Amino acid sequence: MKRKLLRILRENSETVSGEILSGRMEVSRVAVWKHIQKLIELGYDIRSGPKGYQLFGEPDACYPWEFPGREDLVRYYPEIESTMAEAGDLAGSGCPPFTTVVADRQNRGRGRLSRTWESPDGGLYFTVVTRPGLSLTESAGPVFAASLCLVRVLKSLFDISAGVKWPNDVLVEGKKISGILSEMEVESDMIRHLNIGVGLNVNNDPPKEEFGATSIMRETGKRASRKMILGAFLDEFENCPANRMDRLVSEWKMHTATLGSRVRVATIDDAVEGLAVDIDETGALIIQRDDGTLKSVFHGDCFHLGEFGK
Ligand code: BTN
Repeated sequence: MKRKLLRILRENSETVSGEILSGRMEVSRVAVWKHIQKLIELGYDIRSGPKGYQLFGEPDACYPWEFPGREDLVRYYPEIESTMAEAGDLAGSGCPPFTTVVADRQNRGRGRLSRTWESPDGGLYFTVVTRPGLSLTESAGPVFAASLCLVRVLKSLFDISAGVKWPNDVLVEGKKISGILSEMEVESDMIRHLNIGVGLNVNNDPPKEEFGATSIMRETGKRASRKMILGAFLDEFENCPANRMDRLVSEWKMHTATLGSRVRVATIDDAVEGLAVDIDETGALIIQRDDGTLKSVFHGDCFHLGEFGK
């Protein structure tokens, strides 16, 4: 109902009468009025006058009805502890694939390696539940797909050329614009669900971390619509085959900010330093150490120490 009402109001830049709305929506004029009041409470700037109703402005909130065809899959929260926790619960209780939990703010946002992810208003924070039908060794596929889909969306919507940093950060000229976190449940080596959490700096002002951070607003000088970004991302992501690691790896290499750089990858109990020379089809980074030997690393914190040959 909300979607239909909004569609009619959006189609008309002029006032639309209550009579026309009730006719097109096949409900009484009182029901139209009630729906309008609800939308106003939710932040839509709808003004009424003797001739009817007119839409002047919309909130940038990821309400489910803003995602046609996905209304039943999108769960929106103004504030939540972490979209990962909520998506984990939903996945555990059997929700359909591509269920998406999105929030305006998180008060316990999770980052990789047990870090916190500051999640103030203005950023986009969401987790998508995937059920990719892949084995544990293929788990990099959906995660690579997510970072590449973000790169595509940044290009198509904002003409921002972003790069991917192993394992799954998205950078703009070396500054982090997005981080991705994945959590999964596995049974007999098969992935039951793999939840992909994306934190994207949109209109928020990310702290200048050690290696710098940026946001879409910082890059373009304009506020961006988070609901438009999420819709575009979900369109890309649902159509991006996570089982085609060959294709994902070659696209990843076209956008890599890591290969050709001198890196240090730290894991909980080890660190490997050298030149990042390749990634393989499991998503592992191949590092050439100074003594010439090659080492594959599957996870860890990757620091770019300097760039060679780029
Ligand atoms: C990183 O450390 O770079 C990954 C950050 C991932 C943050 C996102 S925000 C949405 C989702 N919910 C969380 O609590 N974390 C992820």
